Amino acid sequence: MKVFVTRILPAAALDLLKAAGLEVKQWTEKRKLTQEELIAHCQDADALLSAGQQINKEFLLASTHLKVIALHSVGFDNTDVDTATELKIPIGNTPGVLSDATADTAFLLMLATSRNAFYMHQQIINGEWGFFEPTANLGIELQGATLGIFGLGKIGLEMAKRCIGAYQMKVIYHNRSRNESAEQELGATYVSFEELLKQSDVISVHTSLTTETEGKFNMEAFKQMKERAIFVNTARGSIHQEEDLTKALQEKVIWGAGLDVTHPEPMAPDNPLLTMPNVCVLPHIGSATVGTRNAMARIAAENIIAGLKGERLPHLVNPEIYG
Ligand code: DGY
Repeated sequence: MKVFVTRILPAAALDLLKAAGLEVKQWTEKRKLTQEELIAHCQDADALLSAGQQINKEFLLASTHLKVIALHSVGFDNTDVDTATELKIPIGNTPGVLSDATADTAFLLMLATSRNAFYMHQQIINGEWGFFEPTANLGIELQGATLGIFGLGKIGLEMAKRCIGAYQMKVIYHNRSRNESAEQELGATYVSFEELLKQSDVISVHTSLTTETEGKFNMEAFKQMKERAIFVNTARGSIHQEEDLTKALQEKVIWGAGLDVTHPEPMAPDNPLLTMPNVCVLPHIGSATVGTRNAMARIAAENIIAGLKGERLPHLVNPEIYG
């Protein structure tokens, strides 16, 4: 049986697929496949291992023969899961293994933003490291600050642990429903969205992108935040409204922002956010460590192997297909 893979995968995952007797065809060009190319490459495949591609209705309707689609991500907002479910195509994802790496990225962005670190680095490159001024280049301290987690799941929990360990931060959170085990583990307090905005010194976004969370952080939200607040998003770029965020930062409605995700991705190099002292942007590298990417690829391969054997995927997004 044949598997089409949309990116170059770590050897460990390819070896798993090959050891299962599968024929693997990898897309090796350094660009995203177009929709037409993706459909064409899947025509003679039995399974798709997809990284960074949109799996929309049109693709699914043209690929109803696929026995399994394994995503190389925990997020599945780029996949039309409802249509896949109607077509009884199992969709797999890679939860759990990227929590530490993504939380590290959120922590990095929080700290870097609090000290304007990326901008300072750029100033050195620009030959602008001037004389020492006691009142210049000042950041803000995080010791004892309040961390507001929007979406306290596995990644949010790891971010909170880091913030408590490093800075004894107080943790509050807002979720659709309460996370009582995390409350016990962290001493975290559940608050309304409005209270999260009002009380937090740092807001870190760890929720998935849904119709409810899309554009949630808009000017109305930023205006309710503290003037010295830092906004961190390592989840999905569409959860904040970029124009509103840019304005909020320009007008000093909030202190700063650390973003690993933008909308669109990649961010245009002339985006005004990239030249602001109080903004740190990374190119969606939350899960980008050797160990995490190997683990994600292995899980995706295991999902493919199970799907092609007609077994339930170890990490299944749409259990509804089994009725
Ligand atoms: C995920 O796994 O969802 C990460 O954001 C990488 O896309």
